[in-house]
Amino acid sequence: MEWWKKAVIYQIYPKSFMDSDGDGFGDLNGITSKLDYLEELGIDAIWLCPVYLSPQVDNGYDISDYLQIDPMFGTMEDMDLLISEAKKRNIRIIMDLVLNHTSDHHPWFRQAIQSPDSEFHDFYVFRDGNPGSPPNDMRACFGGSAWTYVPSLKQYYFHQFAEQQPDLNWDNIEVRKQLYEIINFWISKGVGGFRFDVIDQIAKEPDLEITANGPLLHAYTREMNQNTFGGRNMITVGETWSADIQSAREFSDPRGKEFSMVFQFEHIQLDQQKGKEKWDLAPLFLSDLKDVINKWQTGLYNHGWNSLFWNNHDLPRIVSRWGNDQEYREVSAKMLATLLYGLQGTPYIYQGEELGMTNIKLPISEYKDLETLNLYHDRIAKGYSEAEVMQSIYARSRDNARTPMQWSDSSNAGFSKGNPWLKINPNYREINAEHELSDPNSVFHYYQKLIKLRRQYDIFTEGKFHLLLENHPQIFAYERTCKTERLLVICNFSNKPAEFPNNLLGDSPELLISNLPFTRSTHLEPYQSFMVLNHLPK
Ligand code: GLC
Repeated sequence: MEWWKKAVIYQIYPKSFMDSDGDGFGDLNGITSKLDYLEELGIDAIWLCPVYLSPQVDNGYDISDYLQIDPMFGTMEDMDLLISEAKKRNIRIIMDLVLNHTSDHHPWFRQAIQSPDSEFHDFYVFRDGNPGSPPNDMRACFGGSAWTYVPSLKQYYFHQFAEQQPDLNWDNIEVRKQLYEIINFWISKGVGGFRFDVIDQIAKEPDLEITANGPLLHAYTREMNQNTFGGRNMITVGETWSADIQSAREFSDPRGKEFSMVFQFEHIQLDQQKGKEKWDLAPLFLSDLKDVINKWQTGLYNHGWNSLFWNNHDLPRIVSRWGNDQEYREVSAKMLATLLYGLQGTPYIYQGEELGMTNIKLPISEYKDLETLNLYHDRIAKGYSEAEVMQSIYARSRDNARTPMQWSDSSNAGFSKGNPWLKINPNYREINAEHELSDPNSVFHYYQKLIKLRRQYDIFTEGKFHLLLENHPQIFAYERTCKTERLLVICNFSNKPAEFPNNLLGDSPELLISNLPFTRSTHLEPYQSFMVLNHLPK
């Protein structure tokens, strides 16, 4: 079996993880200094968000040199040290590669806009046009038109994200060759795999207004696989907001021609108004979450592989979102972990999730994320009220996840001796790693235990998923079965007590984990959850 099927991945947002030199930004040596902490948690690999040279318009997702480390994060020697120190602890490093676009500071783009005759001009997507009338009405993901005019060329260039993130032209074989060389450079450095940023958008066809899932997408990802990581026992995960079961099967087919797995986001979009943007909030219906998880668990069984996550650097903190970050913070954070860690797939922990870190509310002047700031100005200009816009931002801003890691109750939460680049959540005095490490009942130790269980019992990797209590309004329950065992997972997804039928537990349930004392009763306290194992008669 591939190692990553039993692995748990920890995502690091380097700017906010640990600052070793007091400039207010986290860095590579800061990460290296915390490897013992990660080893203690029990993770197998680190997904490292971009640390390459970058003007940091989108916090490193705008790369100006893929083969250099941004001085803010350290040097290539620091990177080598991180890789080798991690290896000593059996932790692999997964690099985050942004291959759909570069920064507008990348030398390729600099040359591309010099002249249409430049050899790099066709590295990007240019179209002729007149000022004020772009080729079409396509919008960029961070607001505004997807086309920016270059007067000296009398042409527009295409960008699906910020205007400082010009899209690469994957239809140009030279572009693809250069990108494969970059991947191979990092493979030769000894990394354990890659996370491919917005990979479903590389095969765009802007003239047809196609962004995700272009006709040549899978041809390109297959070609990339063959020319780089294919057959090397590495973990690869594509970020694919557009994925459905069919395309996810293709991406993560067990024959291994594309990726190990993809991130799909269907579950994470259930609490927004249909057909609207993520800022347009709606309540989550548990029945929708059950449907979506059921669909993906059964849809990829034997045909692909799931990634399991509630959080990342683009999403709000799950305990604030679907748990309760006040009186039930710990118990609801553990419930959400229980629900996720019983599923089939590879779990991803986003830094601070293992502490039950929460969302933050800041005055608008303190937000740093360009998507948040664009949204704010956009909606205020459209006439939304300040209160309404701030409510969306409190719930959805990407900066919720990006506040610095809370290491201790000392100044700046032990994150930095300088002035942190983004405000620290004031609750760091209660919620921090030092405190949780010393408390055997902490969220940290709960995650640690879940990780151990997944390693210990093969049923987590192999068992077949069946949704239970489909229509129960409060309880999310399921089982995983294989020939000899049945794993039962029961979660009260609400802040009210709940009851489940007494035939569910089985004859001799062996308790694996529970977030409140387990009594075999069919009564559940708010957010109570547990996992039990039954041995099936031969
Ligand atoms: C992905 C990243 C996000 C970034 C965007 C553009 O969605 O996760 O942080 O802003 O791609 O690169």
